[in-house]
Amino acid sequence: DWTAESFVESTIHSLRMKIGNDKVVMALSGGVDSTVAATLVHRAIGDNLYCIFVDNGLLRKNEFEEVLHSYLDMGLNIKGVDAVQQFYKSLKGLEDPEDKRKAIGRTFIEVFDQEAHLIQDVKWLGQGTIYPDVIESVSVKGPSATIKSHHNVGGLPDLMNLKVVEPLNTLFKDEVRAVGRTLGISDKILSRHPFPGPGLAIRILGEITPERVAILQEVDAIFINGLKKHNLYHDVWQAGTMLLPIQSVGVMGDERTYERVVALRAVTSVDGMTADWAHLPYEFLAEVSNDIINRVKGVNRVVYDISSKPPATIEWE
Ligand code: XMP
Repeated sequence: DWTAESFVESTIHSLRMKIGNDKVVMALSGGVDSTVAATLVHRAIGDNLYCIFVDNGLLRKNEFEEVLHSYLDMGLNIKGVDAVQQFYKSLKGLEDPEDKRKAIGRTFIEVFDQEAHLIQDVKWLGQGTIYPDVIESVSVKGPSATIKSHHNVGGLPDLMNLKVVEPLNTLFKDEVRAVGRTLGISDKILSRHPFPGPGLAIRILGEITPERVAILQEVDAIFINGLKKHNLYHDVWQAGTMLLPIQSVGVMGDERTYERVVALRAVTSVDGMTADWAHLPYEFLAEVSNDIINRVKGVNRVVYDISSKPPATIEWE
């Protein structure tokens, strides 16, 4: 007899009892969990919730601006932090996926710690942890697309002696969405695909450079916007693109080209633990492939990933 309405009501009540007049700091990712958690805490304690949204330079095209805008529209007390150069610097020269994850986790903690210290007398750390995050074993490459792989490795709470508040830690994903709908959060946010904390850094195989990020953002935007335009976005559980560390020969006019290869990845899944490659229509794939090659300078070949998980993973790194 669980209902989203009664959950919202009782949680707001207990958050007020627990937190009182204390201040809470919380990092938002643009994802469903942190957004719903922050909205609940905001309902309970208003602007004593200080939200921080970090631009790590590894988000989708225009994502930082758009998401920050929706957070402001929702009335959250939020600060956008441009840490792009700091992240790129920490990633310089790194090629190994786990090294990249660690560098991103470390930098995230540095940025968050610095921002949190600017808030006087903050007592609590809010987190969007959901029940599957609680039961699953702690792994750096976690199966959920929250910031959890960051705070798991570094321990944000210890850093500042903060007490933790996790209002969603008894809920499954579909319940989180129901709570989000009850709170009036837009469907655009609630129905978004999962996106990994390390972002495009684990979709650019090899070293991260600003130029590579810019290319992948263009490619990714064409794929994702294509899925939306053709009403396929909600048929897949997650979609994205990978920039491969190889060049291949092509031909344009009379010219031989020697340029980059990108891979499209779209999967169906229930929880990300297992996944099947999405059987997208050939016509759609053809259109996206043409758009990418015609519009993104430096890319001359597009391939589609037809591997399932297991034994492949959803991400390539
Ligand atoms: P894999 O590649 O392991 O991905 O099949 C399963 C799900 O987890 C996401 N993922 C991550 N999320 N930090 C995250 O927050 C990570 O390091 C990470 N690695 C993978 C992936 O996008 C998919 O949803």
